[in-house]
Amino acid sequence: MSTLITNIAELMTQDLEHRVLKDAAVVIEGERISWIGAAASAPAADDAVDVGGRAVLPGWVDSHTHLLFAGDRTAEFEARMAGEAYAAGGIAVTVDATRATSDFDLTRLALGRVDEAVSQGTTYVETKTGYGLDVEHETRSARIASTVADQVTFLGAHLVPAGQDPEEYTDLVCGPMLAAVRPFVQWADVFCEEGAFTAEQSRRVLLACRDAGLGLRVHGNQLGEGPGVQLAVELEAASVDHVNYLNAGDIDALAGTWTGWNAATGSGSRGTVATCLPACDLSTRQPLAPARALLDAGVQVALASNCNPGTSYTSSMAFCVATAVLQMRLSVQEAVRAATYGGALALHKDKGNDADGERAVGSVAVGHRADLHVLNAPSATHLAYRPGMPLTYAVWRAGKQTR
Ligand code: NIG
Repeated sequence: MSTLITNIAELMTQDLEHRVLKDAAVVIEGERISWIGAAASAPAADDAVDVGGRAVLPGWVDSHTHLLFAGDRTAEFEARMAGEAYAAGGIAVTVDATRATSDFDLTRLALGRVDEAVSQGTTYVETKTGYGLDVEHETRSARIASTVADQVTFLGAHLVPAGQDPEEYTDLVCGPMLAAVRPFVQWADVFCEEGAFTAEQSRRVLLACRDAGLGLRVHGNQLGEGPGVQLAVELEAASVDHVNYLNAGDIDALAGTWTGWNAATGSGSRGTVATCLPACDLSTRQPLAPARALLDAGVQVALASNCNPGTSYTSSMAFCVATAVLQMRLSVQEAVRAATYGGALALHKDKGNDADGERAVGSVAVGHRADLHVLNAPSATHLAYRPGMPLTYAVWRAGKQTR
């Protein structure tokens, strides 16, 4: 079954050539994109959808979320808005509520959050454990996460539970907990920050997870300058996320990881993506991550929602893009790229292999997964020009129209 999507005013491909096509069309066959080009020369297809002169982008790739949770932290948010600083201790409130929730309800809550994201144009979602913090509940979160998200990250090292010895808890994460979650996860992450895990504890967790075959990511430099970025670079992590407090050495170190990468061909050795989380920065009143300086230094940047109940209770990638343009000084093209191709790079899903059916996401190109986001606007500029407006008109996820 093939579908021609035509009358596209602007097709922002986010492919390696960064093409923006006017008066374009796309053909979907099954779950893949089989043709893109000028509407006037589009091939015939089984079905046709006229999008009425609207803009089309790749679906958002949300590479950092925490969707497996129950409970509410409105009171903590109100206290923060009244002047209290964010402290990681709030995680414990969510851990208690999550442990007390049944499998059925936790699944329903997580699925609802994924649906909410997809209805706003997100077509590929990573999510993390991290609100279980014992072997039983981390494993349960990982298992449920693997049924609702595209990729799952083990974040047993999110917070040391109250009353536990940090070294003993780190041993638990590196040993029995890792072994139990391993069948359900592709990535490991650690909250490397004062009040969470030290550089040494974080290194221990990441090395154990790497030995177990997991890819690595780091929550780093969120609440102050710290060792997270340097650790991510040292261990060749796929991404370091938050990156609010960076010194020149941190930016240089991240840029250095990309010197073997050919951005024009998408080949060479990958570096560490800097994932900026602007909705979290606003909700915690932290300085915005220096996305402009990172891009200028040659670092590959991703934008993600960080949807979680403590620091960023939104899955709106459009909000992140608008903030990146209006406040972080990215161009619309750069911000959309970071929220699509950048996320795919951070999740190692920027490349596929048409022959074996492994589909790239985050860009509109032949052979890639047919993940399309049609805006109710003639150009992507409207994402920043009309911030906060419901601009999602239609969504195709893996070739299926979901909205
Ligand atoms: O990415 N920084 C650590 N983890 C989450 C927040 C978790 C919470 O407060 O519930 C984050 O911001």
